[in-house]
Amino acid sequence: MSTLREHWGSKLGFIMAAVGSAIGLGILWKFPYVVGKNGGGLFLISYIVCVVLIGLPLFIAELVLGRSAQKAAVLSIEYHRPDAPGWKIAAWLGIISSFLIMSFYSVIAGYGMSYILLSLNGFYQNLTLDEVGIVYEKLNTSGAISTFWHFLFTAITAMIVFLGVRKGIEYWSKIMVKIFLVLMLGLFAYSLTMPGLHEAFQFAFKVHPEQFTASSFIEALGLALFTLSLGQGIMISYGSYMHPKESILKTSCIVAFSVVLVAALSALTIFPVVFTFGVEPSSGPGLVFKTLPFLFAKLPCPMLISSAFFTLFVFTALTSAVPLIEVVATNLMELFDFSRKKAVIIVSTATFLFGLPSAFSQTDFQVFKDWKEIYGLSFLETIDQLVSVWVIPVAGLLTSIFVGWKIAQAVSKEQFCQKEDSPFLFHFWHFMIRYIVPAVTILILLQGSGVIDINNLIRAG
Ligand code: PHE
Repeated sequence: MSTLREHWGSKLGFIMAAVGSAIGLGILWKFPYVVGKNGGGLFLISYIVCVVLIGLPLFIAELVLGRSAQKAAVLSIEYHRPDAPGWKIAAWLGIISSFLIMSFYSVIAGYGMSYILLSLNGFYQNLTLDEVGIVYEKLNTSGAISTFWHFLFTAITAMIVFLGVRKGIEYWSKIMVKIFLVLMLGLFAYSLTMPGLHEAFQFAFKVHPEQFTASSFIEALGLALFTLSLGQGIMISYGSYMHPKESILKTSCIVAFSVVLVAALSALTIFPVVFTFGVEPSSGPGLVFKTLPFLFAKLPCPMLISSAFFTLFVFTALTSAVPLIEVVATNLMELFDFSRKKAVIIVSTATFLFGLPSAFSQTDFQVFKDWKEIYGLSFLETIDQLVSVWVIPVAGLLTSIFVGWKIAQAVSKEQFCQKEDSPFLFHFWHFMIRYIVPAVTILILLQGSGVIDINNLIRAG
């Protein structure tokens, strides 16, 4: 290897980098909507249960794997089981999905960047909801402009990763996560003053059992894995930069708690705005790029609120995008002895190029003109689905089996148990990672692939 392994400069630095990776576009726009769609409070409770019982054990497993091996994903597996190279597939799946996520993540983040500019120009003033929607459609169908922002976002991410673990990822995550939290709390405080607050609380937190189905639980689980950035090998790399004396359990709990907190905060920031104006909460880009700007225009200081919101959007995307490039790059550095610079240039160029069809997914670009007609989803949505439904759960499943069954229990115990951590917690974690995490992930895969329909099974049972 060409360089000595870098380590985090401080515990806070690691936590900020991990929290930054977890809190991303998934939480900012996906989370609030799915909470409402799946019966509010009950879904929220299921999400928290999934984060604690499935996400957290897997998060710990990835850190244990990385710190014990002091290597990124592929070589961590080789380090523990040189006799079983087939398991490396778990790591490769993570690398592939990081690559795929980055390719479309930066297109969406690019829209966010373009909305900062639009907000500063006060574009939405005096526009109707439909007209605001038309601005979004225009952006969406302009391949060249989407590509420009996609390029810029990829380039900024690549710069941060290029600077390395401490000077790049840790330094910038600390700054960006802090700005993110300040902006979020500011917007949240503002939402508290809105008349729609009560309704938003009802929407997000009240238990509506009739809307909650067994598949809602599966959805909560998928979201928990996605929001904690699991199944990507990211936490394997991040674990390898951890100091040996730090408690994996404690830091993982802090990260999981922060993720749950910010997810709830994001629901309570977005929905008071939506309900104040009696708009139907719609999902994904529609909500963020069409409804919200229209509603911001009706509030006092629209320019400030709207630019603050989209800055928040871009920062949170950036702190999640950094590890996506990092994880692919570090594996290349270790496997092919590339320098950091070379690895980052190769990876970012490749994700940029592979993202082009996503940037052009709504345009009449010749090559992919009929994609949606043939596959039912746009190119961007296809990649998103592929990763969320298949690659992440499969990689998570393989990782849990590997850590639970294929590496010596003593090795995990040594990593898990610091002086202050009780052995009981270790045994509980080990039980979860051996039995419960694999069983539940298999269930998500079967449901996601349509092999079984949990709702029917439960009704029939
Ligand atoms: N956790 C991020 C989000 O919620 C997405 C992500 C997944 C980032 C996997 C990195 C790796 O948006």
